[in-house]
Amino acid sequence: MLLNVKTTIGKSILFVFGIVCILQFFIVFYRDTTIEEQESVQTAALLHESVDAYSSPNDSEHPFGLKGRKVAALADLAQHYSDNPSLSYSKLNDAINREFPWWDSERLSYIPWRTNATAWPKHRPETTGIVICAGDSMVFEAAHLISSLRNVIKSKLPIEIAYGGDEDLSPASRAFLTRTVSTVGFVDLNQIFDNNLVYFRGWSMKPLAILASRFSRTILVDADAVFYSAPEKIFDSYPGHRETGTLFFHDRYTDFRAWAPRANERRPWIGAELATAQRPPSGYLNTTSLFWSDYTVEEQDSAVVVIDKARPKLYLAALFAAWMNTPQVRDWTYELFYGDKESYWLACELSGMPYTFEPWYAAIMAEQDYLLLGGKMCTRHMTHAKPDGSEPLWSNRAIFKDKIYPDTGFANWTHWYLGARIDETLAAITMKTENASDTTDQASGSPSNAHTDANELSPHEETRRIVSSMQPNWDGWSTGGKDGCAQYDERRWSALSPRFRRTVEALVAEAEILNIRHATELGSAEEET
Ligand SMILES: *[C@@H]1O[C@H](CO)[C@@H](O)[C@H](O)[C@H]1NC(C)=O
Ligand SMILES: *[C@@H]1O[C@H](CO)[C@@H](O)[C@H](O)[C@H]1NC(C)=O
Ligand SMILES: *[C@@H]1O[C@H](CO)[C@@H](O)[C@H](O)[C@H]1NC(C)=O
Ligand SMILES: *[C@@H]1O[C@H](CO)[C@@H](O)[C@H](O)[C@H]1NC(C)=O
Ligand SMILES: *[C@@H]1O[C@H](CO)[C@@H](O)[C@H](O)[C@H]1NC(C)=O
Repeated sequence: MLLNVKTTIGKSILFVFGIVCILQFFIVFYRDTTIEEQESVQTAALLHESVDAYSSPNDSEHPFGLKGRKVAALADLAQHYSDNPSLSYSKLNDAINREFPWWDSERLSYIPWRTNATAWPKHRPETTGIVICAGDSMVFEAAHLISSLRNVIKSKLPIEIAYGGDEDLSPASRAFLTRTVSTVGFVDLNQIFDNNLVYFRGWSMKPLAILASRFSRTILVDADAVFYSAPEKIFDSYPGHRETGTLFFHDRYTDFRAWAPRANERRPWIGAELATAQRPPSGYLNTTSLFWSDYTVEEQDSAVVVIDKARPKLYLAALFAAWMNTPQVRDWTYELFYGDKESYWLACELSGMPYTFEPWYAAIMAEQDYLLLGGKMCTRHMTHAKPDGSEPLWSNRAIFKDKIYPDTGFANWTHWYLGARIDETLAAITMKTENASDTTDQASGSPSNAHTDANELSPHEETRRIVSSMQPNWDGWSTGGKDGCAQYDERRWSALSPRFRRTVEALVAEAEILNIRHATELGSAEEET
């Protein structure tokens, strides 16, 4: 009896003690949470102040550097809101909207900081998917890209097609695409962006498609691209992609400046805008860019662009790239560069966000028969290597021998030429320069008197020769192929594997079927309307 009473009292004390502990826990938890919340509100206010501290530049003056500073401040703000989902993000949206009036958060399927209240607070749908811009003139190419990704390459990535209203991609074309490739989503950019503000056409649709896509990790692909392996896992193996959330591909190594009249202005202009943005050139530019070291005048091939929009800062970089393609700004962008091409890395560079390029400049694919012809019509196709450099991963200009002359038929690639990695190329230059200065030292400090030969190359010309000897030579391409397939280092041509060539055959077989279907089904559908 007494024992029972004692245990009851004991239990009660334990019970009360337990309640107190739990209450204590909640009080501490509540207090900490409110302190944390107050702090995040204060930080947000400070970040808003630093965004407002930069005046919004006038777009007509194409203020890339100033915009870069503003974007960097907005990116810090967006990161803070994303890290603190308890904050209401309407003020963030307002701040972004002031800078990009054509950005309407309500109409977009994916925004990284828009948390889902019914799910766990931090829940953000994260998916990787492909978005392709395609109009009526590119239906065959788009159908081929999608059907080969599904049937030949066996990629499981979801795919969307972005277009600008019925006048860009007609209902008949959309019906054809749905019939031939089944599971594909359509995104009408007219419904998402006010075309009175962005007036998109051609190139300028591409960065908007990145923003409009419902995928977080967005792979923007040109309709006439061709993949030789499924991209989803391979992309992760390019060094740096995981860290930066971006993957960009290089254009051709070409020093043919006459082709782009203002090519010589590109680097100095970027340097000046970086100075305005108050940023030194990034580690990428300093160490792994043949463009920045003035050996080539092109940097990015934007036929494939990977941006992980789940990272709020990169979402802002994507907005910045799209801004470069808006009407008042692109007058300048397209005059200095070729279309949207350089927008993506420039947006990152000018706002201080790290980014990743493939470690080579574009490789060349060619056909043996044409190689042997030695210059008559040397089909040379730009292609991009897998991360291990073993074979091509993707190319553009469709599966034709030469897209400009489709009558020449479908491709039958036999060989490819991959240049040296950029770090190896730059190391060779450093070694040469160091050796040269050693020689100068030995010549007891009078190098200028030693050789004043009229034929002597300037130091840059000399290193340029080293770079050219290690990179694919595109000079023939840009001068209309008159140089044929000559390369400085013929040993770099290598045969494509039988397995790779069987893939090309399967891609061609897919193209032959689609070509007939396209001609019969869409040809007649267009006549009816
Ligand atoms: C922007 O600059 C252009 C050209 O310099 C000028 O015509 C226009 O009035 C400016 N707009 C604003 C809002 O200041
Ligand atoms: C929010 O999350 C729930 C549960 O995961 C899901 O069913 C719902 O579709 C999501 N809503 C949106 C708008 O994403
Ligand atoms: C790149 O080089 C410039 C000088 O050429 C330097 O000012 C800058 O700090 C360098 N950037 C990095 C990230 O090291
Ligand atoms: C492709 O090229 C190889 C080697 O040159 C040749 O044997 C083959 O017949 C070609 N195939 C087609 C379809 O032209
Ligand atoms: C530079 O010198 C080293 C050692 O003297 C030599 O092995 C190397 O081939 C030289 N490189 C060039 C590019 O001349």
